Amino acid sequence: MNLLNTNDNIRSLQELTHLLSQTVEEARYGQDPLSLYEPIRYIMSLGGKRIRPLLTLLAHQLWQHNPEPALQPALGVELFHNFSLMHDDIMDKAPLRRGQPTVHARWNESTAILSGDVMLVKAYERMMQVPDGLLRPVLEKFSQCAAEVCEGQQLDMEFEDQQGVSEAAYLDMIRRKTAVLLGFSLELGGIVAGADAEACRHLYELGINMGIGFQLMDDLLDVYAEQEKFGKQVGGDIIANKKTYLLINARQRAAGSDAQELNSWLQQQEFDATEKVAAVTAIYDRLGIRALTEAKIDEYFHEAFAALAALPAPEARKAPLRQLMQALSKREK
Ligand code: IPE
Ligand code: IPE
Ligand code: MG
Ligand code: MG
Ligand code: MG
Repeated sequence: MNLLNTNDNIRSLQELTHLLSQTVEEARYGQDPLSLYEPIRYIMSLGGKRIRPLLTLLAHQLWQHNPEPALQPALGVELFHNFSLMHDDIMDKAPLRRGQPTVHARWNESTAILSGDVMLVKAYERMMQVPDGLLRPVLEKFSQCAAEVCEGQQLDMEFEDQQGVSEAAYLDMIRRKTAVLLGFSLELGGIVAGADAEACRHLYELGINMGIGFQLMDDLLDVYAEQEKFGKQVGGDIIANKKTYLLINARQRAAGSDAQELNSWLQQQEFDATEKVAAVTAIYDRLGIRALTEAKIDEYFHEAFAALAALPAPEARKAPLRQLMQALSKREK
């Protein structure tokens, strides 16, 4: 079937999204024991934005018409992302994901650990469906990225109990836990499309900048999103004393009674969660933390758009990727 329809014969964002949904729906993971595989089907069926596999397809499309060779590796990226979420939700004690109970809440922690583990294996299986000649470089880059995500996650957890986390340390942490996967997703599309090393390096850099902006936005939404749209527990980061860009800057800016109140909330072991979230959000409001974070997000997206402009790829084919980047820089969920 020929899906090419725009002037330059490139698929729209909508068409690629549709193709991806089909690929996810058709995927089979296993049956026995049901309790191991059911959580995979559950979390994958809850959707999410699926931006990482979309990035792979969008990067691939910069050089190739037929998306077919990129589809299974793209699914591998989404499986890896969902594995990391299943484990992240245990670590973050998160009750909600994509508007539904998290896997550990619906089943139990052991199930979420083991289903997550097997999802990582399934991610590798899909990644291995790249053409034979690309197997080694792709798996090396994927493994490097996966290890960095774990490093970032470990730092994220350790920072919960540390007081003097700097903005630089935070940025390094989110580069690892989030941005490298966006970088890899784009680079993967380039590699499968046969792009040269220079183009792949540009794609990775684009992904790093967008990924840092993306995680800053995630931290902002964790405080300011509408619960219904967001699908996760608003205020979760405040409850867990996550050292986000918001908190780090609030601590730097706060003086007098704001500083005292913020410190006291950070130290309390027992508290009413709703009360803490409201109080810390009010401090952020008084200190102008929202606008400060939005400016930082803009900075990183600006860098990402510059990287897209500099990317050695056909100009006319960049439009759908630019469109996705624009949507992500203004997202509400
Ligand atoms: C959530 O990622 C985890 C982060 C790295 C912020 P997404 O916001 O992409 O989650 P889904 O897949 O769309 O649900
Ligand atoms: C998680 O960051 C990034 C991962 C590598 C899973 P968060 O903990 O902020 O992600 P959410 O907000 O739970 O989706
Ligand atoms: Mg986390
Ligand atoms: Mg989390
Ligand atoms: Mg978050």
